[in-house]
Amino acid sequence: MNILILGSGGREHAFAWKIAKSSSCNKLFIAPGNAGTAEVGTNINIEINDFESIKKFVLTENIELVLVGPEDPLVNGIYNFFKENEQLKDVSLIGPSKEGAQLEGSKQFAKEFMFRHNIPTAKYQTFTKNNLAEGYTFLESLEAPYVLKADGLAAGKGVLLLNDLQEAKDELKTMVADAKFGVASSTVVIEEFLDGIELSVFILTDGDSYKILPSAKDYKRIGEGDTGLNTGGMGAISPVPFADRFYIEKIEREIIKPTVEGLKKDNIEYKGFIFIGLINVKGEPKVIEYNVRMGDPETEVVIPRIKSDLLNLLKGIGDGTFSEEDLEITEEVATTVMLVSGGYPKTYEKGKKITGVEKVSDSIVFHAGTKQEGESIKTNGGRVIALTSFGENMNDALKKSFDSAEKIAFEGKYFRKDIGFDL
Ligand code: AMP
Ligand code: GLY
Repeated sequence: MNILILGSGGREHAFAWKIAKSSSCNKLFIAPGNAGTAEVGTNINIEINDFESIKKFVLTENIELVLVGPEDPLVNGIYNFFKENEQLKDVSLIGPSKEGAQLEGSKQFAKEFMFRHNIPTAKYQTFTKNNLAEGYTFLESLEAPYVLKADGLAAGKGVLLLNDLQEAKDELKTMVADAKFGVASSTVVIEEFLDGIELSVFILTDGDSYKILPSAKDYKRIGEGDTGLNTGGMGAISPVPFADRFYIEKIEREIIKPTVEGLKKDNIEYKGFIFIGLINVKGEPKVIEYNVRMGDPETEVVIPRIKSDLLNLLKGIGDGTFSEEDLEITEEVATTVMLVSGGYPKTYEKGKKITGVEKVSDSIVFHAGTKQEGESIKTNGGRVIALTSFGENMNDALKKSFDSAEKIAFEGKYFRKDIGFDL
């Protein structure tokens, strides 16, 4: 079949790399893609939120399956755009409906969903500029640190963790009354702080049954020892050592099943990935967020561990054979280390020549912000390349990722040398 992947990061390269191996894959396109996706498929210059251009391309190239990488087009309703269109309705689009995408698009929606379906999560209340005084009272009833979340999408920046009560009150006011994150923060969710170690689980669902993909942990901060600013993610490990079979079964019972059943009960169409961010609070998993897509760089460790044909699984979602498909996972540990541009996540320069990729032999090179320019590959984003390696244990795999990281060069290159330090 002919496939179109939307997106341009390491996640999309990992998807493309895996799907290109499938015997069911005929033509593979990535919009807009990067220098890495161009090695396994054909990049096309279409913007991910330009639904009309996507439609034209899908019809011209006889695309039968569209895999949506990032959340943006999903929150903007690309699923409904396909299903409500006579010519597109039979194309299989992997991703939730616009309403399903609200699990990520609105923190308040996600919280209400979790409470309605008894899914363990932090206690919370929501506030707008109309009940600011109540917000102050609620903050006074909590203990530090205070967790303030902009309701809407804020490019990963909408969550504040603050130690000082007065600062929390001031920030709440800035968010709701002074639009600190634009309309995204006109509603703010304040929630109880959960103390514990984070992990993520991923499922793929056809809206009826589901498959649990490998667990992963990512490292969001720019600095070693988990310090400094938040990034999109500086590295990841799969599986998470403390998430053994029994723990995953507990997550399945208390969180995954009620999530999939909750979507059904609420009549929300959902055919795609769900990324569940959890905090392990003294052995009890609690949800901190849903994402309606795979994570990046988590995909770069989760997808390579899948031995089965991913495309057949995705195809099964459209064909109604999803529940019969096998999902086989390797026992090996996968790690990924992200090379980023100097200055990231603040301002950084693009267009730096990347060398040494051909010297890497022990890792898979997943491109993120890269671009082919004539004969050379140049940097084209904050996160540039993810180096994924396998090992019998985490340290074996990490050693390969770090050795590969040393072989690649570009001006301003930075990476964290302590991925996995806390495990
Ligand atoms: P989110 O965008 O909701 O994932 O939040 C971003 C980050 O803030 C998470 O990855 C956690 O590290 C942290 N966080 C969010 N909610 C909480 C909470 N209730 N308690 C502790 N940390 C949290
Ligand atoms: N790595 C976190 C995310 O993709 O949201």
